[in-house]
Amino acid sequence: MKEKLEQIKESALEALKNAAAEKDLEALRVKYLGKKGDLTSILKQMGKLSAEERPVVGQLANKIRAEIENNIEQRAEKLREKAQELKLQNETVDVTLPGVRSKKGGLHPLNIMLDDMIDIFRSMGFDVVDGPEVETDFYNFKALNVPDDHPARDMQDTFYLGENLLLRTQTSAAQIRTMTSRKPPIRIICPGRVYRADEVDATHSPVFHQIEGLVVDKGVTLCDLKGILEQFAREIYGEGTEVKFRPSFFPFTEPSVEVDVSCPECRGKNSSCRVCKGTGWIEILGAGMVHPNVLRHCGIDPEEYTGFAFGIGLDRLTTTRYKISDIRLLFENDQRFLEQFDK
Ligand code: DAH
Repeated sequence: MKEKLEQIKESALEALKNAAAEKDLEALRVKYLGKKGDLTSILKQMGKLSAEERPVVGQLANKIRAEIENNIEQRAEKLREKAQELKLQNETVDVTLPGVRSKKGGLHPLNIMLDDMIDIFRSMGFDVVDGPEVETDFYNFKALNVPDDHPARDMQDTFYLGENLLLRTQTSAAQIRTMTSRKPPIRIICPGRVYRADEVDATHSPVFHQIEGLVVDKGVTLCDLKGILEQFAREIYGEGTEVKFRPSFFPFTEPSVEVDVSCPECRGKNSSCRVCKGTGWIEILGAGMVHPNVLRHCGIDPEEYTGFAFGIGLDRLTTTRYKISDIRLLFENDQRFLEQFDK
């Protein structure tokens, strides 16, 4: 029996050495020390022993039990230490590593420019309105005093979606939508995308952006238009900016003007300036006094009310401000380009 006990001990200690996890230890405890375990089943045979042998074997069995228990405890401790070590190793933070910056999105340069422009016009009392990009011939042309056979239609190559439906070629369509849905006094801007069947190159894109402005009230004059546009130009390009009004033609305004500002890059001092091509001026918008026919189309009496309107090209203003040499960059969504404008 003593031999058997020693064997149990040897086998238990050997098995413990190889136990790799705490649950293995528990299985071994059951196997050797449990109610139906090896040691217990030996002890159950103690009755067969003589009275002298019994305490000796009993003592040995207790000693071996204690030894195995001890061993299990030690092994458990070791396994816990190991697990802790592993955990620490995996969770180690190298505080000398550089931090990882999280990328944040930024505004598109067109939106930065547009936001600035909206701020300026809001400060002058303008509302911002929206209009549809798919328009009817009436809003985009006819009500703007461009009848079917008018040569002015050739000024703009139009994408037609059907007989009467088209992609708006100008935000001016929003003038009509506004005047047919609101009563004067009107003071709005309408920014948005416009479309023309233009060949794509560094300065042309079939989709681009305009900001339409419209003021209708009693006693509005060309002087008011000049005041607003001069103020706008100076806020965008700085106090010293000169503003030039050139007579022009648009079917929906009379008189019509085109507005140039002194070149923000060279102020007219560089004959080989890339921004103004050496002219000293850049054209930023078309404008004029709303044609009486347009007011009439919208049910507004031109004897009682007058108004002015303007249309600003947003893309051109943005490329000049940021010295972007090719308009296509604004539409390609190349992150390497866009990231440079993060405010
Ligand atoms: N719609 C014109 C264009 O696309 C720009 C324009 C000129 C708008 C004069 C106006 C205006 O409101 O009064 O070329």
